[in-house]
Amino acid sequence: MARQGLLLLLLLPLLATAGPEADLAAFRAYFEQRFPNNEINDHIDGAYALDPEKREQWLAMEDFPPYEFAIDDGEGLFQTPFANGQGYADCFENEGAVKHLYPQYDESRGTVVTLEMAVNDCRSANGEEPLAYDSDELAELTAYIAFVSRDNLIDIKVPADAEAAYAAGKQYYYSRRGQLNFACSHCHMQMSGMKLRAETLSAGIGQVSIQGAGSGGAASTIRSL
Ligand code: HEC
Repeated sequence: MARQGLLLLLLLPLLATAGPEADLAAFRAYFEQRFPNNEINDHIDGAYALDPEKREQWLAMEDFPPYEFAIDDGEGLFQTPFANGQGYADCFENEGAVKHLYPQYDESRGTVVTLEMAVNDCRSANGEEPLAYDSDELAELTAYIAFVSRDNLIDIKVPADAEAAYAAGKQYYYSRRGQLNFACSHCHMQMSGMKLRAETLSAGIGQVSIQGAGSGGAASTIRSL
């Protein structure tokens, strides 16, 4: 009971603060306090920053990454021109190194655009059919885009118009849902660094993949903070 009260007290400032910038500062401060032995930037390695054993396994795996084939396939798809001769590189700057800029708020449409939506927008604009959300192609393309975006810090802009979308996302993050009736914040804030079965729960401030499903781990290549 007392512990729950304390947690509520710790979280209250986060729930109460207004505005993305103040929220980000409070979110950082939360993890700085929770993990005083980590530099804040250490969290770009997600759960691997909090679990030395897993970190070693991950570094060993990175010598021959099992997701490499999916990245290669994604690159092939990215470089293949559309029927009209245009290509993805005509839609995405920096030869596709743009993962860290998504999701974006599209002010003209009044909607949040994810990278997956932007890939399909690019296709539609060039007379191609959109890809299914659960298709290998879309997973491979976005895995490739994530891969070439490595080492860029996540840089999401929240313009004033996006306030409602931002508030909805924040509400979602702190609301209980699902079979376990947990909020994202329960696992990735209050229980971050702890074990859930064999998994170490990553700190919400830094996770290596920001899309759920992918091609056999292809997604878990981007670093975020
Ligand atoms: C019951 C606990 C639990 C809840 C609730 C939960 N997660 Fe997770 N999540 C995990 C576990 C376990 C992993 C795998 C270990 C890790 O990387 O944290 C994970 C992984 C992730 C990752 C990948 C991390 C990385 O570095 O690749 C993201 C992103 C993520 N969760 C976001 C969310 C979001 C957003 C929500 C709310 C919609 C959420 N999680 C709710 C347990 C949870």
